[in-house]
Amino acid sequence: MSPTSSQQTIEQFSRVAKIPHAWQQFVAGIGAWSAPSRLIAARECRGAASVIDLGCGPCVFAETLERCWAQAKLDNVLSTPPPEPLYLGIDGSEEMLLEAKRRNPARRVLLKDVCADDLPTYAARALDQRAWIEGAGEDAKLRADVVVMRHVLEHLQDPLPALCNALVLARRKVVLVFSQVPLLELSYSVRTDDYLGCTRWAHQEANLLAEVESHGWRRVTAFYNRMIFGVTVASPTEPNVRLAPNESLWILEPAAQK
Ligand SMILES: C[S@@+](CC[C@H](N)C(=O)[O-])C[C@H]1O[C@@H](n2cnc3c(N)ncnc32)[C@H](O)[C@@H]1O
Repeated sequence: MSPTSSQQTIEQFSRVAKIPHAWQQFVAGIGAWSAPSRLIAARECRGAASVIDLGCGPCVFAETLERCWAQAKLDNVLSTPPPEPLYLGIDGSEEMLLEAKRRNPARRVLLKDVCADDLPTYAARALDQRAWIEGAGEDAKLRADVVVMRHVLEHLQDPLPALCNALVLARRKVVLVFSQVPLLELSYSVRTDDYLGCTRWAHQEANLLAEVESHGWRRVTAFYNRMIFGVTVASPTEPNVRLAPNESLWILEPAAQK
């Protein structure tokens, strides 16, 4: 993919932040509409020492994580609460990160295109804390136990570089949430958003899974909640919460992990 097309996606999101009513709608939408998938993603972070949120936007997922851990502490007042993972949000839009900082000035965030080849090494240089870095000198790379990427891949003309980065950055698990695609066997879908414009998704589920496997990873879970020809089809294994309409959630793990 040419660097400009991922840059164009970032610019689309930055533009939304400058239209007050669109921005309100965006922030309220990601806050409420997709809460169930955030809860499932937060559950998958249990036991992780560190979590990277790729395409974090205003870091609403970080807020879910914090609330879940506050609740876990309450639930465990007489025993040891689970350790709260360190959080790092990465996004290419300055406007999104300004909003994240406005909501919590202490939030750890990094401005970077998630499709960039040099993301792992760039981030290792940009972050001062050893907890995030593996290796030393030129070889130092950003790593975290869990990488979460929600509602990002479907906005990219070519999602594979960002997916590849997620797999390289993660040690134990990757959680992907899609707001509309992949649509089973359809080769592409076109989404039009009022403010984001038109995105043409030209990747089959199989493309993404092939990329996952080529990195030595596998998909262990796929939840979905789809409307197909007017009928809602939700994954039978979905836990107590139902995903938002047309959302899918994948959990990926290294293939060698039992
Ligand atoms: C729909 S929002 C989702 C935000 C957040 N993940 C959530 O679920 O609340 C998509 C985010 O991806 C970011 N994004 C899109 N393309 C990107 C890219 N190539 N590099 C970095 N961030 C990107 C946008 O700036 C935006 O914040």
